[in-house]
Amino acid sequence: MEKTSPKKWVIGNWKLNPYFQDAQALFQSITQHIEGQSLDCQVAIAPPTAYLAFFSAQNLPLPIVAQDISIVNGTGAYTGEISADLLKHANVNYTLIGHSERRELFGDHVERLQQKIKNAIGSGLHIIYCVGESLEQREAGHAKDIVIQQLQELKAVLSEDDWQNVIIAYEPIWAIGTGKTALPQDAQDMHATIRSYLQDHTTWANRISLLYGGSVKPENAVELAACTDIDGALVGGASLDASSFISIIQAFAQK
Ligand code: PGA
Repeated sequence: MEKTSPKKWVIGNWKLNPYFQDAQALFQSITQHIEGQSLDCQVAIAPPTAYLAFFSAQNLPLPIVAQDISIVNGTGAYTGEISADLLKHANVNYTLIGHSERRELFGDHVERLQQKIKNAIGSGLHIIYCVGESLEQREAGHAKDIVIQQLQELKAVLSEDDWQNVIIAYEPIWAIGTGKTALPQDAQDMHATIRSYLQDHTTWANRISLLYGGSVKPENAVELAACTDIDGALVGGASLDASSFISIIQAFAQK
């Protein structure tokens, strides 16, 4: 019978780190650990764009995730862009979309994000769509409204079938790279809100993995993994250290 519960994921978001030799060593430490193990958790790495083709050519059971894609698709005279289609042909099947650093630092407003979602899904990529509120929005009591709004913006460009290629990552902006993690009950509360939104809007709700991100580390991974609606983690800083990342993987694999 087909499994209907969401798959568990731990994804390392390396951002603009590290230099190539260190990246190779880190990748090797992680793959050595997971190779041959039947972990009940899918591990993936989102390295900088410059390394995507190199890592995806390694032919390992470890999906390689792009950190972003272009608003244009296919090929053409678009100097500096990386399209969803190009990635698909380079054996990269996943991409983050809407990470708060793209939204805040690189001008990814709603229309750009929606174009990226359409390009990714249209080219057959799976997306990890990031949502999350700022500290100001949380303190004003608007956290849930903001996240629901971001989900509505996603839904507006998806067909019912497209949802099967979607993972959601809830990353409160105030918890990213700050060392402050959302309390497990607050994270669970938001994840339950997201699940409930999905239940109201798609038949795929119970299969969509909901990842938490924002200062996930070995010290808090077990508690976060224990939450009912947290199906995995999107890990930044701690994914750059093989032993920390492996501890987080183990926490979710044992959930
Ligand atoms: P962090 O980053 O784990 O360093 O807080 C998470 C993310 O931005 O995806």
